[in-house]
Amino acid sequence: MGFLYSQLFVTPRIPDGTDFSGQVILVTGANTGLGKEAARHFVSLGAAKVIIAVRNLEAGEQARKDIIRTTKCPDSVLDVWKLDLGSFSSVESFAERASNLPRLDVLLENAGVASNVHAISEKYERTITVNVISTILLALLLVPKLKEQVSEHGTTPRICIVSSEVHAWTKYKEQDSKDIFATLSDKQTANMDERYPTSKLMEVLLVRELAPRLKDSGIVMNMINPGLCKTDLSRDRNFQAFMLSVMKLLLARTSEQGSRTLVAAAAAGKESHGRYMTDALVDDAALSPFVRSEKGAEAGKELWRQLQPILDGISPGVTKNVDA
Ligand SMILES: NC(=O)c1ccc[n+]([C@@H]2O[C@H](COP(=O)([O-])OP(=O)(O)OC[C@H]3O[C@@H](n4cnc5c(N)ncnc54)[C@H](OP(=O)(O)O)[C@@H]3O)[C@@H](O)[C@H]2O)c1
Repeated sequence: MGFLYSQLFVTPRIPDGTDFSGQVILVTGANTGLGKEAARHFVSLGAAKVIIAVRNLEAGEQARKDIIRTTKCPDSVLDVWKLDLGSFSSVESFAERASNLPRLDVLLENAGVASNVHAISEKYERTITVNVISTILLALLLVPKLKEQVSEHGTTPRICIVSSEVHAWTKYKEQDSKDIFATLSDKQTANMDERYPTSKLMEVLLVRELAPRLKDSGIVMNMINPGLCKTDLSRDRNFQAFMLSVMKLLLARTSEQGSRTLVAAAAAGKESHGRYMTDALVDDAALSPFVRSEKGAEAGKELWRQLQPILDGISPGVTKNVDA
């Protein structure tokens, strides 16, 4: 019911007075969809630099030109950087490059994939690699840079993770596995029909697990539900395609309207730390009953316990960046 009400009756708003003057903002997956529209808003709202992080530089350049055309901003405000979340070395190179920025105010982790086709990237099923492992890896790699932002500029940097209400639409049976990531990645055991919702649930569980570890860092980490929006997200999906198209036709927000929820999270204050934003407002009550339950908290702990060695295996010591 909450979903239908939001889709039918709520148009998210960017809070009045939102201003990103002087800020440097990184948006992953900003060549299209919600990320591109959020980047356009950041430029219009005064950002000094918006970095469009993309796996396809040509698509990124087209988005850059389009944003310059519509906002009339100087060319220098927008940069296009290569980032492929399907490659851990790409994530590391990108983070290293970002660590050399003069400042970093917002890391908006928007890029994501929704597919029911089983494929492997870096030993793990692709959705899990892109939406979960690389997304968290990038956040952790940039924690030192964001802490530097706090100490050198005295501002509140944000890590915003774009999740989804579909985090509630999975049974997440893999949670009881001794090796969650292997079970998710094995073609024989992978439930690809629930894969996208499972990846979004894993993001939610991990934000709730990691945010408390960052509570004294000065960094705000929050997560976003943009609502159902008209984008190309389901382009790879060959199941339920008809039903999804009908739902989108009847209920979906435009990508610009959806992108307002991303912008609101990038501007949200400490009250949003570790919390879920839906309709551009902090609202943990909109999280699934499982996430809010003790079992959900335990599942988050176990997920983090199993993810740590994977992250440290990719980038030794990276999980220490969020040691409480
Ligand atoms: N649309 C909705 O209804 C909806 C609802 C809830 C949550 N969300 C979330 O919103 C976020 C943005 O989705 P969207 O709807 O705007 O979809 P989209 O238009 O498909 O945008 C997804 C972006 O992620 C990028 N991406 C995919 N795989 C990548 C990889 N391996 N490395 C780097 N970038 C990669 C895509 O790049 P390419 O163009 O190169 O593929 C694209 O820029 C996602 O996290 C999604 O889960 C969307």
